[in-house]
Amino acid sequence: MSTSNTNFQADILQGIPSELPKKKAYPINGNPAPKRKDILSIEEKRLAIRNALRYFPEKWHSELAIEFAEELKTFGRIYMHRFKPNYKMYARPISAYPAKSQQAAGIMLMIQNNLDPAVAQHPNELITYGGNGAVFQNWAQYLVTMQYLAIMTDTQTLNMYSGHPMGLFPSSKDAPRVVVTNGMMVPNYSKQDDWEKFNALGVTQYGQMTAGSFMYIGPQGIVHGTTITVMNAFRKILKKDENSAGKIFLTSGLGGMSGAQPKAGNIAGCITVCAEVNANAATKRHKQGWVDVLIDDINDLVVRVKEAQKNEEIVSIAFIGNIVDVWERFDTENMYVHVGSDQTSLHNPWSGGYYPVGLSYEESNDLIANNPEKFKKHVQKSLVRQADSINKHAAKGTYFFDYGNAFLLEASRAGAAVFAENKIDFKYPSYVQDILGPMCFDYGFGPFRWVCTSGESKDLDKTDEIAMQVMTEIMANSPKEIQLQMQDNITWIKNAKANKLVVGSQARILYADAEGRAKIAEVFNNAIAKGEIGAVVLGRDHHDVSGTDSPYRETSNIYDGSKFTADMAIHNVIGDSFRGATWVSIHNGGGVGWGEVTNGGFGMLLDGSKEAERKLKSMLFYDVNNGIARRSWARNDEALFAIKREMERRPDLKVTLPNIVEDTILKNLF
Ligand SMILES: NC(=O)c1ccc[n+]([C@@H]2O[C@H](COP(=O)([O-])OP(=O)(O)OC[C@H]3O[C@@H](n4cnc5c(N)ncnc54)[C@H](O)[C@@H]3O)[C@@H](O)[C@H]2O)c1
Repeated sequence: MSTSNTNFQADILQGIPSELPKKKAYPINGNPAPKRKDILSIEEKRLAIRNALRYFPEKWHSELAIEFAEELKTFGRIYMHRFKPNYKMYARPISAYPAKSQQAAGIMLMIQNNLDPAVAQHPNELITYGGNGAVFQNWAQYLVTMQYLAIMTDTQTLNMYSGHPMGLFPSSKDAPRVVVTNGMMVPNYSKQDDWEKFNALGVTQYGQMTAGSFMYIGPQGIVHGTTITVMNAFRKILKKDENSAGKIFLTSGLGGMSGAQPKAGNIAGCITVCAEVNANAATKRHKQGWVDVLIDDINDLVVRVKEAQKNEEIVSIAFIGNIVDVWERFDTENMYVHVGSDQTSLHNPWSGGYYPVGLSYEESNDLIANNPEKFKKHVQKSLVRQADSINKHAAKGTYFFDYGNAFLLEASRAGAAVFAENKIDFKYPSYVQDILGPMCFDYGFGPFRWVCTSGESKDLDKTDEIAMQVMTEIMANSPKEIQLQMQDNITWIKNAKANKLVVGSQARILYADAEGRAKIAEVFNNAIAKGEIGAVVLGRDHHDVSGTDSPYRETSNIYDGSKFTADMAIHNVIGDSFRGATWVSIHNGGGVGWGEVTNGGFGMLLDGSKEAERKLKSMLFYDVNNGIARRSWARNDEALFAIKREMERRPDLKVTLPNIVEDTILKNLF
């Protein structure tokens, strides 16, 4: 073992260092998180410092208290920057981790991947994506968690409360190694400012979806989902003999996940115009090859897009500027937008998720820190203007969909005209209502993923090959209802390597249904047993069939009134935990915002054992079918079809099916 790995292992095993590390200067070029709201009273600030000092011996308290107070003042949070480890942060091969439990080592690898500066949005603040998607609240939590994972056995379970490692509890080999909760609040305390306050106190965090659950795999996860969405959006509106070349997809955001839009647009074969106010974010995506053209003058944009329309090009264009200006200008120019969306971070509207039109990026940042009330008014006005302009385009025929970023929700709260005639629904569908829900989730297709823990690309190649073979075999006997989904995913996996999607760990995403997920996993496990590949971590995005209850996103196509309930997500995490998951997580907030969603996920280490085979078969079947059952009870046709098929495949599955009432019986009742 190399000396550097020995040091790395020793550092992990040490947890909080025995000697106080030297104070570190805060890096100036590390893409810092925005300064958070100064929301605590003086007494609460004292409490935040008292809470932070719980991790450290008393002899350091007077020195650290001053430093943490300074961090609280400067950043609005206490990150404990001094304790950030000196070793490089990235997913090492599983064998590099000091561990008594292979499962725990797999989790350590996944945690380090989420904090890798090549992967994470604000690595110094332990934020993986979405502006506030935290893995931990501070570096002490990271150190103690890694130490626990290094010393734990396969008969213990680590409980994690919003990044805080509460401790190792005796359990059993069949129990999860880690149980994660993030941001779970007593329901009445889930307003945006509650997050600001309780996060500043150091007692909760916003885990987004795959940030706080250690399952982020860089941008490819989102590229795949976005490609499926954009492709199917065009399929909805194009005539049979038309294709999407030369047709406009107008949207915004080139950040953590939104940055996938131009690449997805290119794969879907259209003109993508994506506005981004932050020049750094746009330039970064351009340099990475994720967007073809960079333009910062709206007149130039109009000329270039008209040319692309004329030549029926497939091209992606980043406009450095505000999306509202583009919607308005394309309207006055009478440029026909076929498909429109938005991916600004409106789950986080008041602290930098959305930049209002008419203010420069710098002016906005200044108001966020110094005059939040005034900033809020600007955001609301801007949302109304944006919605007005989108309405004009829609009147000309644009297909606009909400991409799960709470655009319609926040626009409606700002007073924009986005409600349908019944004044309850929005006039535009969410991408789940029209596309992902009926075409994917209701059939059980969702963002299944895996990570090759050897860190070797040849293992990933082998798993791609296995997945393609399994999907092709399944497709041969699939009903016509899911042929398109199967074909899209076979095409995706065939081109996955060529699309160079790996950032960080050797990971792959693939939309598959219950049958596909379990069969692929079983063949992986056999290949591991034969020594053809190393151990594999399985997982999925929370944004899936069963994991997430979110009325404006994942469950927006549930129409029986239950979309505001969260029973499905809670059942899912409990059900996965006793069917073999290596770790499970349940979060408040993720994508659409704190208080707006309950979402959960799992991770499962396949090590080639018979036990792993038993667990994968039991858990993956449940993990998908729990959601299909709920979707079928909500009378969704596609889910009814899917659950009946599953009951035939597994006679021990017995699901309560709805009886469908004739409309005429209800019509004259009241
Ligand atoms: N439904 C899904 O599957 C899905 C997937 C990805 C993202 N999302 C949601 O989309 C949002 C974006 O995610 P992200 O990770 O890219 O966040 P992000 O904060 O990294 O990126 C958003 C970008 O929008 C830019 N922006 C803000 N206001 C703007 C404006 N008025 N005009 C132009 N640009 C503007 C910001 O500068 C930022 O770079 C989040 O709310 C997320 O939850 C949903």
